[in-house]
Amino acid sequence: MLKVDSIDVFYGNIQALKGVSLEINEGEIVTFIGANGAGKSTLLKTISGLLKPKNGDILYEGQSIAGKAAQMIVKQGISHVPEGRRIFANMTVEENLELGAFLRKDKNEIQKDFEKVYHLFPRLHERRKQLAGTLSGGEQQMLAIGRALMARPRLLLLDEPSMGLAPLLVKTIFRIIEEINSSGTTILLVEQNANMALSVADRAYVIESGRVVLSGSAEELNASEQVKMAYLGGH
Ligand SMILES: Nc1ncnc2c1ncn2[C@@H]1O[C@H](COP(=O)(O)OP(=O)(O)O)[C@@H](O)[C@H]1O
Ligand SMILES: [Mg+2]
Repeated sequence: MLKVDSIDVFYGNIQALKGVSLEINEGEIVTFIGANGAGKSTLLKTISGLLKPKNGDILYEGQSIAGKAAQMIVKQGISHVPEGRRIFANMTVEENLELGAFLRKDKNEIQKDFEKVYHLFPRLHERRKQLAGTLSGGEQQMLAIGRALMARPRLLLLDEPSMGLAPLLVKTIFRIIEEINSSGTTILLVEQNANMALSVADRAYVIESGRVVLSGSAEELNASEQVKMAYLGGH
């Protein structure tokens, strides 16, 4: 479904991604684990068209999307839930969700997706008339994911959905990620929380200082001494 082929991405003269390659098959949950500053957000921003790779290519269903406008990429079926949620605090929950569907013209189908999102997140339904800025951190993360789903993506990019959430909520969010995946959406998840990410993923990559240093099935990485030492608290 997605093939990232040896991309180099720069901020000015700082190189944030160095020859990064990856593949995602339809139906998978693939995770990128790595420390703060490793290049995880840069990777997602490059796939979703917010940054342009200097070298290399990104193929989505066989067609190059590298450097295309972000709106075009959303229209083709890739939605990005950015790090730190970025919801619109002064708009209601419902209005935030509406914005997620703003490139779509199929009004009846949009109504169905509202129902799906409210089914997935009953909290958002209860709070649909409330200003998004008054939601808790966990509810804001739910809203950010719900808003991305309103574009009806085939590939969902999630940037550290567990960041700053209490352990119980982290579990809830990861359960919902699995539910979204079982209903047919392919997922690329980047996380510092390697334990949780590997528990839901099919395959995983480890990124260090802008380079992929390890990849394999989630099981293989969970068992790897290198991963245990660096990312799973050493046990
Ligand atoms: N807007 C920016 N300008 C300059 N450097 C940046 C910018 N955003 C990120 N970087 C740098 O790029 C590298 C990768 O950052 P990032 O992709 O945000 O990492 P992660 O998401 O894994 O924490 C870091 O060294 C970071 O300091
Ligand atoms: Mg990041």
